[in-house]
Amino acid sequence: MPIPAPTLYPPFNITRLSHVEYGVTDLAASRAFYVDILGLQVTAENDNRIYLRAMEERGHHCIILRQSDSAGVSCLGFKLYDTPELDKAAAFFEGKGLPVEWIERPFMGKCFRTCDPWGVPLEFYVKMDRLPPIHQQYRLYNGVKPLRIDHFNMFSANVDEAIAFYGEMGFRVTEYTEDDESGRVWAAWMHRKGGVHDVAFTNGTGPRLHHTAFWVPTPLNIIDLLDLMATTGYVANIERGPGRHGISNAFFLYVRDPDGHRIEIYCSDYQTCDADLEPIKWSLTDPQRQTLWGAPAPRSWFEEGSLFDGAEIRDSDLKAQPIIAP
Ligand SMILES: [Fe+2]
Repeated sequence: MPIPAPTLYPPFNITRLSHVEYGVTDLAASRAFYVDILGLQVTAENDNRIYLRAMEERGHHCIILRQSDSAGVSCLGFKLYDTPELDKAAAFFEGKGLPVEWIERPFMGKCFRTCDPWGVPLEFYVKMDRLPPIHQQYRLYNGVKPLRIDHFNMFSANVDEAIAFYGEMGFRVTEYTEDDESGRVWAAWMHRKGGVHDVAFTNGTGPRLHHTAFWVPTPLNIIDLLDLMATTGYVANIERGPGRHGISNAFFLYVRDPDGHRIEIYCSDYQTCDADLEPIKWSLTDPQRQTLWGAPAPRSWFEEGSLFDGAEIRDSDLKAQPIIAP
């Protein structure tokens, strides 16, 4: 199935992905992981929630950790370009018969919550409290020195359908993986902000969140994180990598937080803002697709993900088999 043509004039203007809210079962344990190990900065906290930002970010938060009885994902947040886009976005979702609820969120202006057709909880806003820049306060750099949130990757039970819906919202495909037998798309990477992706979809039981990724300055920061995790009791939380992806050409590492939420540490992908940039096609059977150096991903990487609050999951339509490490 061919990749649909990009929507160059979408019905509303998404600037970029913005934030994620995780339900976590032990807030103190999650704080230790995200703050002391990864190096995210606390911008607000109370008994139930911790708000975090990365070093380059001026917005108040890119992650909310919320104490919960069970691990889950409450929302994926996206920033819109300007205030008129909010009503246009709400009209888009209402036109699809999807629920739109205007909500009050701490540290944020006007905001509505909705979901995609598969139940992924989404949040759109324009204004979030702006904080002073800290990217040159080098004494604050810690852990892997996270600079900014980079992307969400979701398991999707039908990637072709996900591409069509997110494509309507203006996300443009930069790279994709095709199953040679069926011609169906097995995975796709789509962007708004001019990198390889803001959102990606991977074939699998879905919808579930596969991972949230953070951009770091260099691959050496990833090596430093591995040394830190390996000597502070987090060796079992290291899942895959380090390595270089074939797709996106980025240097990567996947780690799991105390609840199993998967976090990717990511750097050095490429610029994609040309409207006529041709998507790069990969074969599912190409071992360099996942890892340029050829090492396959472990089974957990294809099977485990975080549940979205309120979304019902189902098996994927496409049964094609990726290359899995023995
Ligand atoms: Fe990723």
